[in-house]
Amino acid sequence: MRSIFGKGLTVAPLLLAVALAGCAAEPGKPTQAAKAKPSDFSEWPCMSYTLACGKIPTRKPVTQALVGPLNGDPVRGQALANERSKGNCVACHLLKGAEQPGSKGPDLTAYGTWGRSDAEIYALVYDMRSRNPDTVMPPAGANQILTDQELRDVIAFLQSSK
Ligand code: HEC
Repeated sequence: MRSIFGKGLTVAPLLLAVALAGCAAEPGKPTQAAKAKPSDFSEWPCMSYTLACGKIPTRKPVTQALVGPLNGDPVRGQALANERSKGNCVACHLLKGAEQPGSKGPDLTAYGTWGRSDAEIYALVYDMRSRNPDTVMPPAGANQILTDQELRDVIAFLQSSK
């Protein structure tokens, strides 16, 4: 199961590349990278033999039920899905209105027309391993990348994508 996280963490080199690109900015001027809060990945399992995160066991797949009505905010959800330090769904999915999306996962630009229930999508985004143990999609819920409310917001955005 380690490989799932290995692939899921391919964002780390991406963030590094962004940070390095920031260093190339005009000297003396504060760069985006300098202003941004450094990401701390120490709580998540990783493939490293030397870092502490390499000694954290991979979290077990979770099948999580949606409790009550969705009550998500699609506007907040859209921002979260595009936010590279949060959902970062855009790294792998074509999303409605997204710029420079990835194509590793299915095209979700009209996901609201697929007829999936809120509960079904919640379980998948919480932990895709509940359906596909070999998925590359990071378990946003099980790995505490998104809170319960943030998951609801992202799902409201997906359901509103038509
Ligand atoms: C590392 C790439 C990656 C990232 C990041 C990613 N996904 Fe996925 N996603 C996939 C892949 C690949 C699939 C295809 C399902 C599988 O792996 O079995 C998928 C499938 C899905 C599906 C299921 C579509 C269906 O009904 O069959 C949903 C919904 C989804 N992703 C939402 C999201 C959301 C929301 C985020 C951000 C929180 C996200 N994904 C982040 C790769 C990714």
